[in-house]
This record gives sequence, C-alpha cells and structure tokens, in this order.
Amino acid sequence: MDNKQQILRQLREADGYLSGQHLSGRLGISRTAVWKIIGRLKKEGYPIEAVTNKGYRLLSVEGRDLFNREEIENRLQTEWAGHPLVFLTETGSTNADIFRLSDEGYPSGTLAVAAQQTAGKGRRGRTWISPPDVNVYMSILLKPPISPENAPMLTLVMALAVYQACEALYSEENVQFGIKWPNDIVVSRAGGPCRKICGILTEMRLEEKEIRDIVIGIGLNVNQDEFPEEIRETAGSLKLALGRDVGRAELTAEIWRHFEKDYEAFTEVQSLAPLKEEYERGLVNRGRRVRVLSPVDPFEGTAIGITDTGELTVRPDDGSPDREVASGEVSVRGVMGYV
Ligand code: BTN
Repeated sequence: MDNKQQILRQLREADGYLSGQHLSGRLGISRTAVWKIIGRLKKEGYPIEAVTNKGYRLLSVEGRDLFNREEIENRLQTEWAGHPLVFLTETGSTNADIFRLSDEGYPSGTLAVAAQQTAGKGRRGRTWISPPDVNVYMSILLKPPISPENAPMLTLVMALAVYQACEALYSEENVQFGIKWPNDIVVSRAGGPCRKICGILTEMRLEEKEIRDIVIGIGLNVNQDEFPEEIRETAGSLKLALGRDVGRAELTAEIWRHFEKDYEAFTEVQSLAPLKEEYERGLVNRGRRVRVLSPVDPFEGTAIGITDTGELTVRPDDGSPDREVASGEVSVRGVMGYV
C-alpha cells in the first residue's frame, strides 16, 4: 500500500479529524508530504475537509464517481482478472499500454484502466473518442491456452460480460441492455431507440503460429453527456439512459467478475456452447431483420441466434437454407436502423 492509499485508509477508519502530525507520524513522512497527498486526493474528488488545529476529515463519498486504482481494487472480487491493475489518469491507448506491459513480463490478467485516452483506437482503423474523467477505457492482457482461430470468440465473451454487468447493476431502472452482434453493447430507455454505449477491440500477437498474447480493450460511455455530430444518432451513455451519474469503479469491478467466470467456461471447451444461451438472451438482433453487407454476396433475412463458434445465424428472406455469418467477413445492419 502506498502513502496515498494509507492516508485514505486512515481517514476512512477515523471517527473524526486526524491531524497532519498524527498522519505524518503514522506514515513516517513529513507534514508537507501529507499535505501534498491530501491535495492530490481532493483533486481526485475526495471530499476532505481541512480545519485549522483539528486536521483532516473525510466527508461522505456516497454517490460520488470516484475513479482511481484504490476505488477499483477495493471492489474487485476476482482471482486473476484485473491483477495487477495499472491505473492511468491519461494515456494514448490502453490496448497499446497492455502490449507494452506484456513485453515487460506482466502476467495474464493484467489490467490497464485509464480516465482519458489521447489516441483511443476503434475497430476498422477508426478513432475511439475518449474524453477525460467521464468514461471507462480499459484493456486486459490474456495468454489463453487456446488456438489462434478460436481467439475471435473472446470478443463475444467480453461483450457478454459487459452485458451481464450492466444487467446486474442497472436493469431495474427502466432501461434495457442488449448485445448487437458480435460485440457492441446497446441500451434503450423505456423502449426508445438503441444507443451504443460500449465498443470492444481485440488484438492478438502470434509467435510461431501460437498465441503470444491477446489484448481485449473496452471503451464504455458512462457519464458522457454529449456526442460529436457524426455519432449523435447512434451513440449514448449510461448516464443519458439512466438519468443519473454512474459510479465507474463499481461498474469496472462488476465487468471483471463476470468476465473471469465466462472466460473460464469458454477456455475449458474452446467454444461458446456454455455461454450461448445467455448471450442469445441479450442478442438484440435476434428475431429482427438484418441486412448482411457482404461485398460478394449481400442478402437480407432474419437473425436467429449464434453458433457455438460465434457466427450469426441468419434465415434468408428468399427461403434458402439458414446461413452462418462470420464477423470478420461482413457487417450486419438492422434493416430498420442501427440494430
Ligand atoms: C469499437 O470500435 O467499437 C471498439 C472500440 C474500443 C475502444 C477501447 S477504449 C480502451 C481500449 N483502448 C483503445 O485504444 N481502444 C480500446
């Protein structure tokens, strides 16, 4: 535990005020160092009251969206997912950070979480807009004992975990969550339009045809109020859907709780079979008309579900047999809009 964490713990456990002198004695650091750490904590959003001749007191943090390493670690209930946790107030891209940490020897399960990204990457070479202090940007390092051709399924495992976490935390608040195949998470308020609140980018590095490492990056729009013109119609946030601020640390911990469980079920059989039913429960495309945008063979039909390997099963309108659509090859659009 570093000095900041120790001061926070002391303040949490204290009944009233703690003097600077007391804290400096307990930690073996100067009073100026204590004062500096208190300043940092305040900047992170902790409501700390400072009174002359009395000292410092932590007021209630109830309902505050405090987002840093301690707040996440205090809530993480996992064995390996999210350990160790590297927290960055600002970074380029957490996916890039994870590859760097992997090269430095960090283990499978390492998690990089950032409060802001300056070079966030989206799928298909797009940029992931990553404004400061409102959203969650995070990436996990995995070294799964699976063959490379099964790796794309991990993206669906991650989507399922995010969906389950949102369901577990917010489903009683008049909102509905869904998975837009293969891996976007959408939300709709009181039956309104579906908005994308989460994107997932999986990247893999190979070594002699074996998996060297995989990074799964998640961008979650949590407390963002406004979106740029070009994505205003399709993007949303949890705050806009729920009508309230959402605690990012709680959500982060809940996602990894589900992911650890789902990942273990998946790697054991290297198939989505044990997760298929749950995934399809969230699949918003299910029973809806879809347009399969294949460069060679586009067609329209109704989405039925997914296969054990993650393809979307589509029943073509022309009465021909059901077709399995792979995510890398084509893009699927709803006939009536985004989903
Ligand atoms: C998408 O295009 O839908 C996927 C977006 C993935 C964004 C996340 S944010 C955390 C991680 N770091 C990145 O640079 N990208 C992913």
